[in-house]
Amino acid sequence: MKLRTLVFLNALAVGISIGIVNYYFQHSWYYFSISMGISTCVSYLVFYLLIEKYVYSKIKIIYKLIHNLKLGKDLKDALGEYVSPDPINDVEQEVKEWARDKKTEIDDLKKQEKFRREFLSNISHEFKTPLFAIEGYVDALQDGALEDPELAKQFLNKVSRNVERLSFLIKDLNEISKLESGDIPINYQKFDVTILIKEVMEALELKAQKYHISLTFKEKYQQPTFVNADREKIRQVLVNLIDNSFKYGKEYGSTSITIFEMHEQILIEITDNGIGIEEKYLPRLFERFYRTDSSRSRQIGGSGLGLAIVKHIVEAHNQTIHVRSTTGLGSTFGFTLERAKDSLLPFP
Ligand SMILES: Nc1ncnc2c1ncn2[C@@H]1O[C@H](COP(=O)(O)OP(=O)(O)OP(=O)(O)O)[C@@H](O)[C@H]1O
Ligand SMILES: [Mg+2]
Repeated sequence: MKLRTLVFLNALAVGISIGIVNYYFQHSWYYFSISMGISTCVSYLVFYLLIEKYVYSKIKIIYKLIHNLKLGKDLKDALGEYVSPDPINDVEQEVKEWARDKKTEIDDLKKQEKFRREFLSNISHEFKTPLFAIEGYVDALQDGALEDPELAKQFLNKVSRNVERLSFLIKDLNEISKLESGDIPINYQKFDVTILIKEVMEALELKAQKYHISLTFKEKYQQPTFVNADREKIRQVLVNLIDNSFKYGKEYGSTSITIFEMHEQILIEITDNGIGIEEKYLPRLFERFYRTDSSRSRQIGGSGLGLAIVKHIVEAHNQTIHVRSTTGLGSTFGFTLERAKDSLLPFP
């Protein structure tokens, strides 16, 4: 309802009441109408002025404040001062909208807070496990295991493996924080990715033998495939994905690397016939410290940072990474790279 109508109805109510009182004493319809008319007019004016002066003008200020805050100073200056013709209604709309915005903001902050809490508890868990192990072996050595040289050697080996794990963890964390803050620039260069894949395969050959996994590279076109990317970082991506295919592969299984050529990109896929990943885990797989229950229960060393680093690197190249998997059958991780423009010319 408009303010004027509201004020008029109020004034009319006052006018009628005064008219009735007047009629009670004077018994005249003439005085009734006159007193009603005058009091209605006077109260209309008084109410209107009071509301306008004390309520409306204050709401207008609040409205202007909200409106200008929402627009931001620069936009406000460009549009000039804006006064709404119906501030009460508009204030209601703006406040509702504001409340909605604030709620989403608060929800986001809560999510981030939860993420931070999880992150801290994960980090302390990852550090605690090797530290407790080291503590245990050192205690055992101090308590007499040193007397038995064979046992001492075994314990020292375990200590050294756990120290190694701690240093890998710190290295990975350092890497991830640098990638996140954008401190590591991507050094784009043009290179033949098939050569890089062969280098990585050679480096991982011994590990593949250890896991009894056959590692193959399906080269469809038998020709160099030039890409525009950071060679060392892509090496890291390949090592991480192939290493996962060993760790979560079947013994005597196989891992294959395939290159698909697309228009302006190439797609590299690493496929294994390992344990696979349940569908419910897929959406969170690339989060820091995320590991599936089966990999935890298999007691395979790892902190769950590998795929988070891989995703960061691929996305820093403005490319994408995806995963397909069937439990029990195996998984395929694929990522794209930008093809070098004159990709058929040999590398200078
Ligand atoms: N090829 C795969 N097959 C099955 N599960 C996989 C595969 N690759 C990754 N996963 C699952 O995804 C999880 C996260 O992988 P990620 O590489 O980030 O961590 P990780 O290998 O456990 O540890 P890290 O790489 O830091 O040593 C793994 O723990 C595993 O559960
Ligand atoms: Mg890994």
